[in-house]
Amino acid sequence: TMLLHLPAVLTPAQCHHLRTTLSDPAQRRWQSGRATAGAQAAALKHNRQIDPTSPGYAAAAALIRDALLAQPLYQSAVLPAQLTAPMFNAYGAGEAYGLHVDAAIQRSGSTGLPLRTDVSTTVFLNDPDEYDGGELVVQDLYGCHDIKLAAGDALVYPASSLHQVLPVRRGERLASFLWAQSLVRDPAQRQSLLDLDLSIQSLRQTVGDGADLQRLTQLYHNLLRQWAES
Ligand code: NI
Repeated sequence: TMLLHLPAVLTPAQCHHLRTTLSDPAQRRWQSGRATAGAQAAALKHNRQIDPTSPGYAAAAALIRDALLAQPLYQSAVLPAQLTAPMFNAYGAGEAYGLHVDAAIQRSGSTGLPLRTDVSTTVFLNDPDEYDGGELVVQDLYGCHDIKLAAGDALVYPASSLHQVLPVRRGERLASFLWAQSLVRDPAQRQSLLDLDLSIQSLRQTVGDGADLQRLTQLYHNLLRQWAES
């Protein structure tokens, strides 16, 4: 049930570089988004994705992966064990992706082995004023959340959630997306570890190190040791 906004995962220069790659026919070939959707989702999915055999794909995907893994908040919240290869998509006017749940099993981008999708991430590559519509709508226990973030920002949300991309009415929406298998499968346990980690970091700033903080840090690592799968 946790939606997490990660600001400035990419610099403006990195966003510009990725948009240049996505607009250059020598570097990318688009394919129908249906190519990678399951039977139920394919009927709802109207967008384009980069063909991963495109010349510019590998460098673009590595940029996204490295930028996300460099975010302390991504590491704390997701505790990633494996990532899928980042993909890139485009929604032009009239394109959308109806309400669906993502496939539970994908493939690791590094090993090709099956990966359980625990956490979804969308990295927005262009600014909200460049297109109308195209909101990412995620349903959780508290209702629906319409999300449209600045270029370079990312949304992290549970892969178990129902979600959709509303129709784009003007312009083009460009994004990258990927899934993570977490070291900690249970979302409530992940949330507890994140809360504890954020409190420890905050106390380190305000109170400084000491015996109490040391015990909290010990607790964090011992809970992670209990809950992490290896
Ligand atoms: Ni999806």
